[in-house]
Amino acid sequence: MTGPTRRSILIASLAAMGSKAFGQEPSIDIDISELAIGETFMRDRGGKRLSVRRLAEDDFLVLDTRCTHLGCPVTAIASTGFAFRCFCHGSQFAADGTVLRGPAKRPLLRHAWKKVSRNTIRVFLSAE
Ligand code: FES
Repeated sequence: MTGPTRRSILIASLAAMGSKAFGQEPSIDIDISELAIGETFMRDRGGKRLSVRRLAEDDFLVLDTRCTHLGCPVTAIASTGFAFRCFCHGSQFAADGTVLRGPAKRPLLRHAWKKVSRNTIRVFLSAE
C-alpha cells in the first residue's frame, strides 16, 4: 500500500485554502429587498456579523462588526445614528466605521460588494 502522493497532497492543500488560493475572497449573498435607503441591518453570515447600510438605491456600506483593537464584537447604538461601541475597552466608531474614540486606531473593516440582482448584493469578505 502506498502513502499519499505529491499530487494528492497538493490537491488537499489547495482545497483547504479554498478560493484564496486563486486570489479571490470568499463571498456571501445578502437579501436587501427590505432594506430602505438610510436604514441599517445586521446579518450573521460566513462566521461574521456584518452591518449593512443602504446609502442610496444602489449604494451600500458593509462593515465588519469586529473591533479593530483586539477583536471584540462592537454593538450598534441606534440612538446615535448607528454608531458602534465596543464594550471591551471603550472604542467608539462612527456609522461609516471611522474611529471616534480609541484605543482602536483603525476603522471598522469595510467589505466590498456588488449588486447581483434587484434584491441581492454579493459581499466579498476581506480577511483584513
Ligand atoms: Fe474593542 Fe478593545 S477590543 S476596544
